[in-house]
Amino acid sequence: MTAEYKVHDDVAVITLDNPPVNGLGLSTRVGITDGLSQASADEKVVAIVITGAGRAFSGGADIKEFGSPKAVQDPNLLSVILALEKSSKPIVAAMHSVAMGGGLELAMGCHYRVCAPGTSIALPEVKLGLLPGAGGTLRLPRLLGVETALNMIVSGEAVKSEMLAQIPGQKLFDKMAASADTVVDEAIEFARLAAKGGELPLVRDLPCRHPQGDAYFAFARNMVGGMSKNYPAPLKCVDAVEAATKMKFDDALLEERKTFMALMFTPESQALRHLFMAERAASRIPDVPEDTPKREIKSVGVIGAGTMGGGISMNFLNAGIPVKILEMKQEAIDRGVATIQKNYDAQVKKGKLKQDKLDERMALLSTTLDYADLKDCDLIIEAVFEELGVKEKVFKQLDEIAKPGAILASNTSTLDVDKIAAFTKRPQDVVGMHFFSPANVMKLLEVVRGKETAKDVLATVMALAKKIKKTAVVSGVCDGFIGNRMIEQYSRQAGFLLDEGATPQQVDKAIEKFGFAMGPFRMGDLAGNDIGWAIRKRRATERADMKYSKTADKLCELGRFGQKTGAGWYDYQPGKRDAIPSPVVAELIEKHRQDEGITPRKISDEEIVQRLVYALVNEGAHILEDGIASKSGDIDMVYLTGYGFPIWRGGPMQYANQVGLYNVSEAMKRFAKNPRDDASFWQPAELIQKLVAEGKQFS
Ligand code: 3HC
Ligand code: NAI
Repeated sequence: MTAEYKVHDDVAVITLDNPPVNGLGLSTRVGITDGLSQASADEKVVAIVITGAGRAFSGGADIKEFGSPKAVQDPNLLSVILALEKSSKPIVAAMHSVAMGGGLELAMGCHYRVCAPGTSIALPEVKLGLLPGAGGTLRLPRLLGVETALNMIVSGEAVKSEMLAQIPGQKLFDKMAASADTVVDEAIEFARLAAKGGELPLVRDLPCRHPQGDAYFAFARNMVGGMSKNYPAPLKCVDAVEAATKMKFDDALLEERKTFMALMFTPESQALRHLFMAERAASRIPDVPEDTPKREIKSVGVIGAGTMGGGISMNFLNAGIPVKILEMKQEAIDRGVATIQKNYDAQVKKGKLKQDKLDERMALLSTTLDYADLKDCDLIIEAVFEELGVKEKVFKQLDEIAKPGAILASNTSTLDVDKIAAFTKRPQDVVGMHFFSPANVMKLLEVVRGKETAKDVLATVMALAKKIKKTAVVSGVCDGFIGNRMIEQYSRQAGFLLDEGATPQQVDKAIEKFGFAMGPFRMGDLAGNDIGWAIRKRRATERADMKYSKTADKLCELGRFGQKTGAGWYDYQPGKRDAIPSPVVAELIEKHRQDEGITPRKISDEEIVQRLVYALVNEGAHILEDGIASKSGDIDMVYLTGYGFPIWRGGPMQYANQVGLYNVSEAMKRFAKNPRDDASFWQPAELIQKLVAEGKQFS
């Protein structure tokens, strides 16, 4: 059982004790009802306090239990809360730190609530594609008013207890405690007094209505519907709160429960729950224990003040860590620093940053032309030109001057981190830190683990990533790491689709409708088509067997590199970013088909989506087989945070699970028969074949 029962003179205290956040799993629910039975049976006990041990009152229902029989096994949360309501002895919730989801619902089922300041209060179920399923949509409006409650339920955002305590007429807290340390004692005292009082108050008996009734809910539905296009839960939250104002309590409670169970099985909720778990699991590296000692990072050196160096520096400045940028020439430094200043100024203009914060951040920035000035840095990140020879020079110099124990990182996007590490006499201190552009904005950080990278270096970089608010995913060394290795297969498919009869705009539209932020051709125009061209040229000898559509090379031969040259797969008007279908490109593709003797065919949007997404899935499976990623959730995190994969689909591997790996593998076998495609690529990865044979999924 994960709840403790103790009697303090005449008051029983039930303490939820299910680390890390007292999730209300089966054994905790049993612990509560057992405690309640003991307290009811003990004549000496006049009142009951419920609280949570450690860092939370309760983070809500145990998410890890969802989908398992335990989640619905009796006593379920609803019946626990009903039992609390029915108690003839007063029950006081002693809330502190975190009271969320089912945890808050549990507290609202108690007769009274004493709360510590600084407690994060939320009904965040909507962020998991759900609605509160244990009376939250009925009780919160009764305690805080319909509008405040609906805002909290629809956004899922946490609000601090002291803010809520200021709402006139709020009934959520009967008393604010002096601190989290005293909340239980104060609740015991409160409970003792309550035991001397009369009838026990029940939240269900409070009135619940909105003065504008239908008009208010029509307005709310309009607002919420507009903001939550691909997610069913937010509108269901509006329905449930409206029902709370119109239906009898128990009828509305039943309705809420039914909707909760229905939402639980939607692909959107499954995806969002997967994302919640995968995000947290990404920071765990199988052979690097969580207690691995970390190196202290108090100062950072950045080499190169170009596109990436500037953005990378901003991450550390934002976190209050001093940065020293090294460049080859003063002009390059001036340009880089001016860009950083310009980015911060823009944030101030938009009201996202205060001027004094900007000044603080810029004061942490210094520059140099001399490597010796980096000798005290704890971490040095290289972001110079993508040429092995240039990296060699830089790392040899770093090896000369960096202090022992300094971490030496490369932001390379394609080069071999093991070769880079070998330029030094301390390969154990070398790691890849692959930021994505714009580096101050994009959440993803691929941490590239070289064959000699020390465990404490990895642990340090993963912890540092959290500090600079990045989602870090560990990748082994291979061409393109996780993200770019997969995107190459996706891009190749996009090219073949053009050869066979699709247009860039059809491909982009189909995949954008699927939910990608940007299709492959608009993305190419944004990033610069010349980058892929250079990579293909480099690979022409290394991977001569790799088949590509020649359209992209022909486009680059015309100098159509994308937005930066005013023309790419699309045409662009000066100063604008709107992608206009290009007659030049249409002609180029047409001519290319004639040269290759291809008769174009009509291609469905469904085929486009399947070929692009399943290409990611197959390569993702190879990445798992090769041990480049340690779990499929890591691959999903890379795609959700770095490549604009639709969040509500949970990433390519989770999406494949939902489609069914059998269906995915059958489609791959079909694509393998297409003579214009790459038959060998479309052999389903062995891992997929094995999972299909065993009736399993990517886990
Ligand atoms: N159930 C199970 N485990 C949970 C959990 C929950 N509800 N909430 C958090 N955890 C786990 C995390 O998985 C993580 O585990 P790990 O250490 O093994 O990776 C650990 O707690 C710590 O989580 P965080 O890293 O997120 O820690 P923070 O201190 O940053 O945040 C938190 C704590 C605010 C509680 C945050 O974890 C959170 O927002 N949790 C989700 C809360 C939530 O959505 N609750 C609603 C659940 S659904 C529900 O209650 C249904 C009901 O209406 C019937
Ligand atoms: P960039 O060309 O904008 O900047 C490179 C900077 O490095 C220039 O300012 C140059 O003066 C400086 N530099 C070159 N050699 C140097 C040396 N020996 N010592 C000091 N400074 C030197 O290049 P960008 O785009 O910033 O790329 C840098 C690195 O980041 C490359 O390895 C690239 O592959 C990688 N990368 C780039 C991404 C992008 O979208 N641009 C994304 C992720 C990684």
